[in-house]
Amino acid sequence: LQQRLLRKSNEPPVVFHWLPVIGSTVTYGIDPFKFIFECQAQYGDIFTFILLGRKVTVYLGSKGNQFILNGKLKDVNAEEIYSVLTTPVFGKDVIYDVPNAKFMEQKKFIKFGLTSDSLRSYVPLMENEIRSFINRTPHFKGSSGTVQLPPIMAQITLFTASRSLQGKEVREKLDTTFADLYHDLDDGFQPINFMLPWFPLPQNRRRDVAQRKMTQIYTDIIKTRRSKQKEKDSEDMLWNLMTSVYKDGTPVPDTETAHMMIGLLMAGQHSSSVTSSWIMLHLAAQPEIMEELYQEQLHILGDNALTYENVQSLPLAMHVIRETLRLHPPIHSIMRKVKNPLPIAGTSWVVPPSHVLLAAPATMGKSDEYFPNAEKWDPHRWETIADPKDEEKEKMDYGYGLVSTGADSTYLPFGAGRHRCIGEQFAYLQLSIVMIVMVREFKLKNVDGKKGVVATDYSSLFSRPMEPARVKWEKRTGCS
Ligand code: HEM
Repeated sequence: LQQRLLRKSNEPPVVFHWLPVIGSTVTYGIDPFKFIFECQAQYGDIFTFILLGRKVTVYLGSKGNQFILNGKLKDVNAEEIYSVLTTPVFGKDVIYDVPNAKFMEQKKFIKFGLTSDSLRSYVPLMENEIRSFINRTPHFKGSSGTVQLPPIMAQITLFTASRSLQGKEVREKLDTTFADLYHDLDDGFQPINFMLPWFPLPQNRRRDVAQRKMTQIYTDIIKTRRSKQKEKDSEDMLWNLMTSVYKDGTPVPDTETAHMMIGLLMAGQHSSSVTSSWIMLHLAAQPEIMEELYQEQLHILGDNALTYENVQSLPLAMHVIRETLRLHPPIHSIMRKVKNPLPIAGTSWVVPPSHVLLAAPATMGKSDEYFPNAEKWDPHRWETIADPKDEEKEKMDYGYGLVSTGADSTYLPFGAGRHRCIGEQFAYLQLSIVMIVMVREFKLKNVDGKKGVVATDYSSLFSRPMEPARVKWEKRTGCS
């Protein structure tokens, strides 16, 4: 009653809670989807809950996605939410540490390093990295065994992204200094630093040292490249960024290039790594789909080397990625700070500037209303659904001049609007190549006749498989 009385009558309903500051933090943190669906059943598509003292207003469904993800820049703001977490990790003057207009320019520079030609040049590099990893890791010695999948997929993701997007100098350092720095930096990329940025965690000192050292590594690479006066390699992300110039004529400073490279590394690593783990876990749970993928490869690829074109010519492989992102979106909550009172059309409610807005487009992917039998992982369901990537492509020009991108879709694993993911094409390519090579090399099965896949662990920033997540592997005979 007290909570009802304290709420202003024109604000959305507040989820019932016993403790004032804690509010719904624990129930949301343990399983955000369960919490959101339960609140939706009780309060409808719009409600507010307390997350560590903050008032968070959730707006679900297409209208909610539109309201939040395509909200006006003056009304909703991402950097005020994310920068406490990202700036100490990525570094200053990039991404969420700058006004959005500058970040949009930076996104455009990054886009030039992710053209089809760049992606084309990454294909053999990624394939070689995966094969070399499989051959050298003790986890795959012999003809069969069991393996804890997530750490393996994390390493494969890091090696492939390092060799392609990050360039060969970074890949060379990954076997020595870079890996430790990456881990120290990654330890600072945790929900606790997001929610309680002032808390003096011991790992934050290591994070800060690693950030400085990593920046130094990139700026040294840039200096060496400049001193050798090599021709610009237009396919290379580092070259692109280090030779980019802002609209006002200022060349991008080397530290900013370094910080953007770190941002790309960190933004891409977890989402791609957890997605590849979920793919492999589902294939182990449904080996008949893995067999179908293998036959698809034999039929369409034969013994041809992987290319940018043929990697994308495998319909079932594409559907496996799409279906996995539907059921296991790495990012469950997208948040924005409210900057002005925001009336919600069709209601009498106004979201005040003290609130944070939360969009959860992934809830639609998990709803039977939009995806019949939504809990079932069934890549074949996509055979009868229009390609969401194509629809999206029509709506956006990828020039980031156009900042209002379709938020109406029921499937938005890469977000929408001005903050839409920049790494989608790269992620699809990387995930496809990892899956193609793994399917070519291995047969997977669940251990001990277990059914299905492990539960989801929501305790980190990116939803990931609960560990242990072990599977049985067997090498295919006669494969390369
Ligand atoms: C933003 C998902 C891979 C770079 C986002 C957002 C989502 C997302 C939902 C929007 C966040 C928001 O609106 O607040 C994913 C998924 C991936 C993936 C599911 C893989 C399966 C990557 C990769 C890169 C990357 C590989 C880099 C190469 C970024 C960046 C942003 C972003 C820089 C921030 C964009 C902005 O705020 O304007 N991603 N991502 N992502 N992603 Fe990804």
